[in-house]
Amino acid sequence: TTRRKKIYEGKAKILYEGPEPGTLIQYFKDDATAFNAQKKAVLEGKGVINNRISEFVMTRLGAIGVQNHFIKRLNLREQLIKEVEIIPLEVICRNIAAGSLSTRLGLDEGTPLPRSIIEFCYKDDKLGDPLVAEEHITAFNWASTQEIDDIMAMTLRINDFLSGMFGGVGITLVDFKVEFGRIWEGDFARVILADEISPDSCRLWDSATNEKLDKDRFRRDLGDVIESYTEVARRLGIMKEMP
Ligand code: C5P
Repeated sequence: TTRRKKIYEGKAKILYEGPEPGTLIQYFKDDATAFNAQKKAVLEGKGVINNRISEFVMTRLGAIGVQNHFIKRLNLREQLIKEVEIIPLEVICRNIAAGSLSTRLGLDEGTPLPRSIIEFCYKDDKLGDPLVAEEHITAFNWASTQEIDDIMAMTLRINDFLSGMFGGVGITLVDFKVEFGRIWEGDFARVILADEISPDSCRLWDSATNEKLDKDRFRRDLGDVIESYTEVARRLGIMKEMP
């Protein structure tokens, strides 16, 4: 790989300038962080697995009409993506109580929710990505009311599709986080799915045993992080050979 301009470096990924205008290269690092980067580690091979899982998920979502930034995978750790104007929200969709929802509302982890719940957090590391309401989003112009509607509709569609996809291979989709961005088409901004969908951004439990197959293995020091991510990839039928 030649030297190219770094556009942005996050905790788990780097964005480089792409080969064409309107494109970027998304590089998946092995770095893992949790609790707003208070806990850090390098998990060898994680970037390779997440690049493949995210490619698989984005391709499948694209095929059912969920427009997203993925163009093609370039190599083990990199994918070509469309450049978007990122909307500064972490959109969380939950089917079963876990994590911060369990803590906030005192729900036992594993309690099925009466219906899927979408939450918005404002993307700001210094603030620890605080939970916000639609009121904040529109008042501070992070997204319009129409964009929030589009984001919610897309997120529910993603949830339905991914719940079925994972369910079919014996994995329960407990919750996940997605991010969206704008692509300008003249003076119209289309909202598309961006970032990644991987075991770093989802809670995935083995449907038979409730064993965690996601980043909670790292957050909670459960061990076998890479083994679990590889198991998710294996069940989806990708990465038949280990990185
Ligand atoms: O921690 P919490 O319960 O709010 O996380 C909900 C879901 O969003 C989990 O699947 C978690 O992995 C994901 N998440 C994320 N990035 C964050 C916060 C949460 O991918 N910064």
